Amino acid sequence: MKKPNLIYIVSLFLLLGSCSVKQQSGTAVQEFEHGAVVTAHPIASNVGVDILKKGGNAIDAAIAVKFALAVVYPNAGNLGGGGFLVYRGKDGEVNSLDFREKAPGAASRDMYLDKDGNPITDLSLYGQLASGVPGSVAGMDEAHKKYGSISWKELVQPAIDLAAKGFEITDQQAGEFNRYKARFQKFNPNGAAIIQDKEWKAGDVFVQKELSETLIRIAEQGRDGFYKGKTADYIVTEMKRGNGIISHKDLEDYQAVWRAPIVGMYKNYKVISMPPPSSGGVALMALLQSVEKYPLAKWGFQKDSTVRAMVEAERRIYADRATHLGDPDFYRVPVANLMDAKFNQERMSKVSLAKATPSDAVKAAKFPGYESEQTTHYSIVDKDGNAVSLTTTINGSYGSCVWVDGAGFLLNNEMDDFSVKPGTPNMYGLLGGKANSIEPGKRMLSAMTPTIIEENGKLKMVVGTPGGSTIITSVFQTILNVLEFGMTAQESVSAARFHHQWKPDVIDVEAKAIDSLTRVSLTEDGYKLNKRGPIGRVENIVILPNGKKQTGADHRGDDKAAGY
Ligand code: DON
Repeated sequence: MKKPNLIYIVSLFLLLGSCSVKQQSGTAVQEFEHGAVVTAHPIASNVGVDILKKGGNAIDAAIAVKFALAVVYPNAGNLGGGGFLVYRGKDGEVNSLDFREKAPGAASRDMYLDKDGNPITDLSLYGQLASGVPGSVAGMDEAHKKYGSISWKELVQPAIDLAAKGFEITDQQAGEFNRYKARFQKFNPNGAAIIQDKEWKAGDVFVQKELSETLIRIAEQGRDGFYKGKTADYIVTEMKRGNGIISHKDLEDYQAVWRAPIVGMYKNYKVISMPPPSSGGVALMALLQSVEKYPLAKWGFQKDSTVRAMVEAERRIYADRATHLGDPDFYRVPVANLMDAKFNQERMSKVSLAKATPSDAVKAAKFPGYESEQTTHYSIVDKDGNAVSLTTTINGSYGSCVWVDGAGFLLNNEMDDFSVKPGTPNMYGLLGGKANSIEPGKRMLSAMTPTIIEENGKLKMVVGTPGGSTIITSVFQTILNVLEFGMTAQESVSAARFHHQWKPDVIDVEAKAIDSLTRVSLTEDGYKLNKRGPIGRVENIVILPNGKKQTGADHRGDDKAAGY
């Protein structure tokens, strides 16, 4: 941490543009007396609040929002993808629901390699072969059976109306629909509602008739309206149109699973998050444990030592992730070792913050005695204090880009979240090995980190985000922003972010993250900084001591908080 010299300062200013330490304020702080819903789309947030006002609980609202997002936010909201839900009931009961996609029965380890063993990257990213067996509808059905209080039909109805009558698209959506048009045409030769001759513009009404009919089947038949009958036939026919392998049996066999959530302590706070097949909860807990002994609040938000401590922790935990994390139904994940506070703190105590540790010098931890054998998030709190933190995905923006012909919904490209070959990075640059290799019926590893925090037995925070590999570090930063740096919910999501994931050995930084002097100091000590666009779209609800729900909706998108 030497004093920066002038040449460095000038060159970094030129390279990175002028950086300010001032936090972005985003939209004004909002607080709600009763219930609050924060999602990536204003219409979906309103659908959730309507359900809460009708007397529905947080799970009811989450189900209605899930189906509404499948209509109004097609790049990530979905029927053809999967996700994770973390729940905390008003009396402190915690649970988590895994409705992650699965590899089809006909999948195999080397299915994305050519005859010489080289990855054919596009195959796991686009087209029918990129899709895992969708879990979203089974997940909502499970959530409803266990905790729902309003009829299933009532929860699906807002989505049916939005698909049948259409809704006005936002400026950001119009731009995206136009930009992706050529790709949509390539993968949907029979057309799709999103493909039209003229350019989309803000305020255009987007009607999705086939999707409304699929939603009606789901409203009337529950999960069978998706995994059996007409919708299943449409999916299997779509598979045959391309090179896809999802079968009727894969669809019928799909089950969402309730799993014990990850629960750990950070100082006085109880952290409740998603267990494997997400890496999110384990990695988040390990990150928090790794920085717990550092005086972050004293050092300050994104100050030199704070950034160094966070980055060095991230480097090590993403190395662990690449080796040790995968679907627990197929691979024994050493969860207890990975989130052992003593282990994480001892490891960090040996790390020098004076110089960057090269990532090549960092290997995944070895545990003695252990035998190795575009996404969207929303947060909801209801009037009674039940809370849902839900992240759902079709992986990349618009998933595989294949709309199921006749059924009007997009399929995921989640197969790319597997490690297609050891040492080959996926679309987020993440590495993996045996723990996350492809096997029939296995769930691909995820970074999604829907999280709930308690303080002294009371609900404190409901948080999560999309962003691929950056999900874990965005949730990590948002939690520290509130708990250590005293930010409001809105400030905590508006604040600029940075990210390190072991490999590649760079700190990704948003334009306004990390002030210029700190950047110079970090660069002098071996940290490589990479300027990049927005990181994540965090949705956060913080419960104030007076019980009010303070919301933070990410200004990086059209995200909106609503409540009453
Ligand atoms: O499950 C995962 O980790 C990824 N499929 C998430 C993808 C994602 O967040 C894309 N959104 N920006």
